[in-house]
Amino acid sequence: MFSNSDIEQSMTIRLDDELPKMPKFVEGIRRAPDRGFTLSEEETKIALKNALRYIPERYHKQLIPEFMEELKSRGRIYGYRFRPEGRIYGKSIDEYKGNCIEGKAFQVMIDNNLDFDIALYPYELVTYGETGQVCQNWMQYRLIKKYLEVLTRDQTLVIQSGHPLGLFRSNPNAPRVIITNGLMVGLFDNQKEWHRAMQLGVSNYGQMTAGGWMYIGPQGIVHGTFNTLLNAGKLRLGVAKDGDLRGKLFVTSGLGGMSGAQPKAVEIANGVGIIAEVDYSRIQTRLEQGWVNKVSSDFKEIFDWANDAIENKKALSIAYHGNIVDLLQYIVENNINVDLLSDQTSCHAQYDGGYCPQGLTFDERTKMLNENREQFKELVDKSLRKHYELIKRLTERGTYFFDYGNSFMKAVYDAGVKEIVKNGIDEKDGFIFPSYVEDIMGPMLFDYGYGPFRWVCLSGKHEDLIKTDHAAMECINPNRRGQDRDNYIWIRDAEKNQLVVGTQARILYQDAEGRMKIALKFNEMVRKGEIGPVMLGRDHHDVSGTDSPFRETSNIKDGSNIMADMATHCFAGNAARGMSLIALHNGGGVGIGKAINGGFGLVLDGSHRVDEIIKSAISWDVMSGVARRAWARCEHSIETSIEFNKKYNGTDHITIPYIVDERLL
Ligand SMILES: NC(=O)c1ccc[n+]([C@@H]2O[C@H](COP(=O)([O-])OP(=O)(O)OC[C@H]3O[C@@H](n4cnc5c(N)ncnc54)[C@H](O)[C@@H]3O)[C@@H](O)[C@H]2O)c1
Repeated sequence: MFSNSDIEQSMTIRLDDELPKMPKFVEGIRRAPDRGFTLSEEETKIALKNALRYIPERYHKQLIPEFMEELKSRGRIYGYRFRPEGRIYGKSIDEYKGNCIEGKAFQVMIDNNLDFDIALYPYELVTYGETGQVCQNWMQYRLIKKYLEVLTRDQTLVIQSGHPLGLFRSNPNAPRVIITNGLMVGLFDNQKEWHRAMQLGVSNYGQMTAGGWMYIGPQGIVHGTFNTLLNAGKLRLGVAKDGDLRGKLFVTSGLGGMSGAQPKAVEIANGVGIIAEVDYSRIQTRLEQGWVNKVSSDFKEIFDWANDAIENKKALSIAYHGNIVDLLQYIVENNINVDLLSDQTSCHAQYDGGYCPQGLTFDERTKMLNENREQFKELVDKSLRKHYELIKRLTERGTYFFDYGNSFMKAVYDAGVKEIVKNGIDEKDGFIFPSYVEDIMGPMLFDYGYGPFRWVCLSGKHEDLIKTDHAAMECINPNRRGQDRDNYIWIRDAEKNQLVVGTQARILYQDAEGRMKIALKFNEMVRKGEIGPVMLGRDHHDVSGTDSPFRETSNIKDGSNIMADMATHCFAGNAARGMSLIALHNGGGVGIGKAINGGFGLVLDGSHRVDEIIKSAISWDVMSGVARRAWARCEHSIETSIEFNKKYNGTDHITIPYIVDERLL
């Protein structure tokens, strides 16, 4: 038999021997709501034993009541005591300990994901999207850091739902970190089982870049939102190819982690936006960042501002402090014209606090969530049904409504509105309103390979970011396609638009060739000492990164929209080609069981070795998705694949589908 002392002695990498003191909780930091404690007595014992696995036996007696209290009052054991005192933020890479550049780089990324200016609920390790966590608890956070400090180029760190399983021998061309989050066996892959697994401490909801350590603050989503709004205007409002949203009104909700990008994006597109938000603290954050222009809870004032801006074709964003359903009701009752309409409440977690029902203030919502979840659920459903009716009224008047990938339409369906699904039976054939991917992002961007490429200047120096912006701009030919022109303008104006929150990072939609060119250029700049090392990555919400019939693959019409082969292959292929970090998650923006998504991180250290990885891995990372989309008969992907086969004849080759004449069927 073995004792706990044998176990302790057998581990050289473990939490410190001393129990840390409970750190202070600073007033005013947003806190995650109670997630609900539903475990049986036996399961509760397992949850406690699971959390105590990280901690020496001598502290167990002391920690059991503390962890029990967390579990009962928060629905999770976060291990608050193990949280570092004070603010966390991504520092310069030189300030981190490590045996290899990647080990240090990932620490920058993790700390940036938990930056108090960025993270939605930093004390609960939630980066964004209501429930998207870096890892499950602070014991894991500490242990991951310890592993990253000793990680060498000949090892790979394995992270399973936030738990660092260990370091295993590999080689310099293998990923340094492999992450999975929330993957569940099919039969159990549902919200109920996941909720149990989270309480037991065996699952983590990584969203996308939260658990994949690649979040770059709200900027990450601004470019996509800008592209979506601009292209919605071109597609539905008669905006010219080189035009913008001048004089157009966009109404939506949410000023949270990703949704907070909406006011900034609509202003960059020169339009007028009114964004409803129930939580004043989030409005405050966006006001302080300069990401939203004005705030009011008075409809008359709001529409006076909006009308003035519309008439004078001025860009303006306004936060409405209140519920989106109240705002829409006012709009319908007063016959106000809305050009573009969407919603970005966290409907992927509508019953966990993601959607605030009409009639409750934000504080009342939090209280009811804690005290009466059944009643809360009823109110959410009632509010969603009304929300839907109001949207219907507006679309009948000519407003273009699109679902913003937050599972809004699925939530409406779950609330009992059967007419929202196309086939009147289930969600398999989609919904009556388009999702932004179905109409806009899929056909206009993903099918060509354009997606949310991003980088972080690990030195933390702003001058490095400016140099990379200029270098990236030089890699784009604005005359190649309309998309290139939009991207060129985006990067040209990026500095002026003051997008950085947290680390010195940039988002830039690019296709396979663009991403490769830019990556090689940056690596060369690192080699020449012109800039410090760079972390490349992307959102999982990309061409190949995510399989989800509710979002990324909603424009896939060959029946394979329910398959998750693409995201899984993308992940495996990136491992085989030597990306520094690879991640694969269940859930993402739309919720457990509704998506499989993955991403990567590649540390540019200036070496020729990394040049070779860029050439094979970046191409694969994008083109595997284009190839799948082509096989599903997405028109623009077929065009892109034909070009690709010509250009890379002899090295790469995509199978392209023959098209059947519909009249034969
Ligand atoms: N921005 C994107 O490109 C993008 C892409 C895909 C999915 N999403 C989805 O959008 C949703 C929002 O993401 P997030 O990171 O901003 O989440 P978040 O939880 O940080 O923000 C949502 C905000 O909505 C507010 N809210 C909730 N109910 C409301 C109501 N009835 N009226 C007004 N405000 C209300 C909340 O207070 C919160 O601030 C998620 O479901 C996410 O998956 C966004």
